[in-house]
Amino acid sequence: MSATAVIGLQWGDEAKGKIVDLLTDQHEIVVRYLGGNNAGHTVKFDGKTFKLSMLPAGVLRPGVVSVIATGVVINPTALLKEIAGVKEQGIEIGDDLLISDRAHVVFPYHMAEEAIYEKQRGDKAIGTTMRGIGLCYREKANRSHAIRMGDIIRPDVLREKIPEIVDFKNIILSALDPEHKPFDAAEIIDQYVSLGEHFKPHITDTTAFLHRQIKAGKRLMFEGAQGSLLDIDHGTFPFVTSSNSSGAGIHSGSGVPERHISQMIGVVKAYTTRVGGGPCPTELLDETGQHIRDEGNEYGTVTGRPRRCGWLDAVATRYGSQVSGVDCIAVMLLDVLSKLPEVKICEAYEINGKRTEDFPSQIDDLAAAKPIYRTVPGWECDITAAKSWDDLPENAQSYVKMVSELVGVPVKIVSIGPDREQTIFLD
Ligand code: IMP
Repeated sequence: MSATAVIGLQWGDEAKGKIVDLLTDQHEIVVRYLGGNNAGHTVKFDGKTFKLSMLPAGVLRPGVVSVIATGVVINPTALLKEIAGVKEQGIEIGDDLLISDRAHVVFPYHMAEEAIYEKQRGDKAIGTTMRGIGLCYREKANRSHAIRMGDIIRPDVLREKIPEIVDFKNIILSALDPEHKPFDAAEIIDQYVSLGEHFKPHITDTTAFLHRQIKAGKRLMFEGAQGSLLDIDHGTFPFVTSSNSSGAGIHSGSGVPERHISQMIGVVKAYTTRVGGGPCPTELLDETGQHIRDEGNEYGTVTGRPRRCGWLDAVATRYGSQVSGVDCIAVMLLDVLSKLPEVKICEAYEINGKRTEDFPSQIDDLAAAKPIYRTVPGWECDITAAKSWDDLPENAQSYVKMVSELVGVPVKIVSIGPDREQTIFLD
């Protein structure tokens, strides 16, 4: 039992990348196990900012093996671009990157179909990242037209499967959108054969690899993407992503059972953000919301969309923590709240005149939920240079304790700025 998991407990963008990056020096292997290039992780160190999407944060630490496991859906063109981007910043990606031959592949027709659905949903749009993620997972569940990374290194398989799939997609897409410009099967085959050649040295059976490493006593870290409330089964359906982004996805997405995990760290922003559609009870549509957005630079890493911002929703976060099964939490971006004279945290909801501490399972109930807040005085001073818990002002300490009490899990880490050094570890 030497594995750690880092899971977002809210609607994603909790700054998981920083925690994974901080802990990688205690681990030999970092595993990304779900989602695709819908995710965005920002890691800052040595004055440089790295924006990762499909690459596990392990790539930033020499000697650490990075694994893109079975449950990830991979857009190989985007991955190639991402690798080129980090190379430009001085990070070499060699044979320390392993990609599962079972992982499914995103194609341009997935993105085209997603764009049509989102448009057709109108004001009920999910607000997806338009990266074809949901459509690729649908393909996987549907099986007939799915292509896996193990297929793209076999040109004969691509030549056999792609023409039939592309014909089918063109029929559907033309019916849905009369302006659809048909995809060319030969072009797609050439493109993916060449991508397959490029990625061949990295593609392998990562499940077998991970189990060999566990047997050899190596320390693994599972890097979550998105957040628990975006989980397809446990999140705010239908405003969710298409995979198990809570702790529930670790086993299915990596092939490693949870009994190998000794530490599950839940990552929580000191406030709430959400991108895309769906209810967000504590959202602030006023200048405080804008203040949090500006202070926290709350704009999507992947899409650049402004994030919806509000007070910390402890009802939602507690639920996220329960379904993910975390045993401690990291409170991130505490410094973003530093200028506010008072700070609020939602401890319960009022739904149709009744108080509840439970997170509703139905989206209409969540949309009707009115937050019941606890209000506490702010700390109104810069905390970004604090080196220890004792350096934090009393009001900031009280706020962190309140988060722990309401979420129901001890706080182990407090982050007070983007750099590796701006991190306080609690006993
Ligand atoms: P999809 O994952 O692109 O299908 O988008 C579904 C929903 O999940 C949308 O509301 C997205 O904004 C949200 N989402 C997907 N990935 C992330 C992420 O990494 N952070 C925050 N929200 C995300």
